[in-house]
Amino acid sequence: MKWKILRLSEVDSTNEYAKGLIPDAPEGTVVVAKRQTAGRGRKGRSWASPKGGLWMSVLLKPPKIDPRLVFVGALAVADTLGDFGIEAWIKWPNDVWVGNRKISGVLTEVKRGYVIMGIGLNVNNEIPEELEGSATSMRDILGRSVGIEEVLKRLLEHLGRWYKTFLENPYLVVEEIRKRTILIGKEVRVLRDDNDLVGRIINISDDGSLLLDVDGQTVKVVYGDVSVRINR
Ligand code: ATP
Ligand code: BTN
Repeated sequence: MKWKILRLSEVDSTNEYAKGLIPDAPEGTVVVAKRQTAGRGRKGRSWASPKGGLWMSVLLKPPKIDPRLVFVGALAVADTLGDFGIEAWIKWPNDVWVGNRKISGVLTEVKRGYVIMGIGLNVNNEIPEELEGSATSMRDILGRSVGIEEVLKRLLEHLGRWYKTFLENPYLVVEEIRKRTILIGKEVRVLRDDNDLVGRIINISDDGSLLLDVDGQTVKVVYGDVSVRINR
């Protein structure tokens, strides 16, 4: 993939900005901002985006819209962290964690055949007080600041590679997600709008959904409005 990087010092949300570039911007357009004033997670939840973090969105134009694309972002982040000696795991469907703290999240949105893939990665930024204990950054883990340009470069390399794999064979992407999640076999609570589900994760199916054993019944949970909590 040939990336074309647009750099902003401040923006509401790189996803919103990237969305505004459709349909004129080509696939491979990357919007990076030093700071977001209204960074978002799924379902409009807010995403803390102070200076020092990597807040970016890329425009992709896959032949067809596929919710498994979010895994491409998560794998690219996990590999980037690996390059810096940080071992990360992927929390289905869109988070990257180090130990019991979240370090990154991926938000994919769709507009007119494009996928806007937003990636937030805590690099050198401060973690807001309300997230202390549940979030971490590369700086916190390594005990030193890291070059954000180097992180961006690596991330785009890994993203290009995983996107290519995805286009050739999306099952390989799902297979890798299975290897990198620690959720399989765990008792979890799946938070949904209507009612929560409590069960044990059997597997991640080829289509990217979660297979849950709820009182002996297999229930399929699709990517969307669900959050997974590990039952302790
Ligand atoms: P969880 O991450 O708790 O499983 P989720 O994946 O369902 O929740 P998302 O909407 O995907 O939630 O992510 C938004 C959540 O991420 C916020 O509600 C907040 O708890 C957390 N968050 C916000 N900013 C950051 C940040 N910079 N680093 C880590 N976590 C953050
Ligand atoms: C999540 O865990 O819910 C996903 C968080 C995604 C945050 C990134 S930061 C860059 C892009 N712009 C946004 O407003 N959100 C994404």
